[in-house]
Amino acid sequence: MVTRAPTFGLPYQDNALVHITRRERFSAAHKLARPEWSVEQNLATFGKCSNPNWHGHNYELWVTVKGEPSPETGFVVDLSMVSRIINERVIHKLDHKNIDLDVDFMKGRLSSTENLAIAIWEQLTEPIAALGCSLHCIKVQETENNSVEYHGER
Ligand code: NI
Repeated sequence: MVTRAPTFGLPYQDNALVHITRRERFSAAHKLARPEWSVEQNLATFGKCSNPNWHGHNYELWVTVKGEPSPETGFVVDLSMVSRIINERVIHKLDHKNIDLDVDFMKGRLSSTENLAIAIWEQLTEPIAALGCSLHCIKVQETENNSVEYHGER
């Protein structure tokens, strides 16, 4: 017989996979442009984000992790720990910075929202796993109309 911690009247469900999401925000400058292309070609491809003298966005980042709720706490993970990891690994490096010039994990990458989501995934996979859950999705919103989700390699 398996002894479990009290579940306060609720049946404890084995193998209950739950997704939990933490939102963080950062503001950063960037430019989308290929240096070997003309200003006109960059403008035609990347639009306003190709402005040669940079521009900024107020980004939102949603980090979704998954796991089984602890029978003791009912939590998948302590979200304050998730927040601390996101801030240390990602937000402090991005907030009020130039993504193209200042951010080590974006070096050599075009600063599209897609590439940003992939790079943030790479930064967070291991420390999130060390908490006993696993990274499920990185969602980055560049503007209120445009966002990207990354779920890891297919
Ligand atoms: Ni932009």
